[in-house]
Amino acid sequence: VQTAIGVAHSKLILIGEHAVVHGQPAISLPFPLVGVEAIIDYVPGSVKIDSTFYHGPIDSAPDALNGLTSCIKATLEKLDMPCEDLLIRIKSSIPPGKGLGSSASVAIAVIRSLFTYAEEDYTMEQILELAAISERHAHGEPSGIDTLTISSECPIWYKKEEPFDLIEPHGDFHFIVADSGRMGDTRMAVESVSKLIKSAPKRIQSKLERIGELTHRARNALETASKHLLGQLLNEAQKELEALGVSDAGLNRLIYFARQEGALGAKLTGGGNGGCVIALAQNEMHSKQLCEKLKKIGAHAVWSFSLKKKPNQ
Ligand code: PMV
Repeated sequence: VQTAIGVAHSKLILIGEHAVVHGQPAISLPFPLVGVEAIIDYVPGSVKIDSTFYHGPIDSAPDALNGLTSCIKATLEKLDMPCEDLLIRIKSSIPPGKGLGSSASVAIAVIRSLFTYAEEDYTMEQILELAAISERHAHGEPSGIDTLTISSECPIWYKKEEPFDLIEPHGDFHFIVADSGRMGDTRMAVESVSKLIKSAPKRIQSKLERIGELTHRARNALETASKHLLGQLLNEAQKELEALGVSDAGLNRLIYFARQEGALGAKLTGGGNGGCVIALAQNEMHSKQLCEKLKKIGAHAVWSFSLKKKPNQ
């Protein structure tokens, strides 16, 4: 093969972020409205990357790309391919640092493209194992939820060290995602929560457990078409995330505005302290209206998408 393409969509965490790092469950959703395409071409010489951030040989890539370059090298080794004669072009529509799993999507698109280039089939386990190399650089102590959701087409119920579960929503849920414009740093946010646990173990542990409990109830709400209940649970989770110090003024402004404009619930999504919010609209029409209003008050980007029950349900 002279050219090969690999793609990956992005992801959203509906509920359970941060608590999931400490053993609680989380629910995440594949987010197909933005994604990554990686294109491999045979080009003699060293392995080169062509992306918005960097263009050049992988061995001279900036430190920020260490995760990706280690992941590329490990994938080539797994495929028994020499580390040469490749140009890897990366095109992404995922805004980085916004809790949408940009780093994991890039890694997964690149891994898929390398397997396709080598004309090798891959399993989900292989992809997750290789993508974890990249995520450890990006996040420090990633729970694994990002890579899993990016490799899945269905909402995921995830708990560390346990087999994951697919969730089948009953009923239609209309969500809005709005970008606060500020880049978050998931690694720092995760570390700040770990520090809090050390300083006040009982108090913080109970908050994480509370998020876990809300996440269990949110699964039930998704599976029983309970929109209003799901909205309330998202709001409750936001309260706990604020208490953990991972929400900021930009996120709070969008969250409170969305609620004031009739959203059934709204919270941050992903690492927080920058990044995006997710809001649950009343219906499809309300979702479109809310998008327009959020744009008007300064959201950098807004997406509306639906989780729909399968036609045979
Ligand atoms: O990559 P982000 O910013 O979407 O956040 C990942 C979610 C966290 O729970 C904060 C971290 C993790 O590894 O699960």
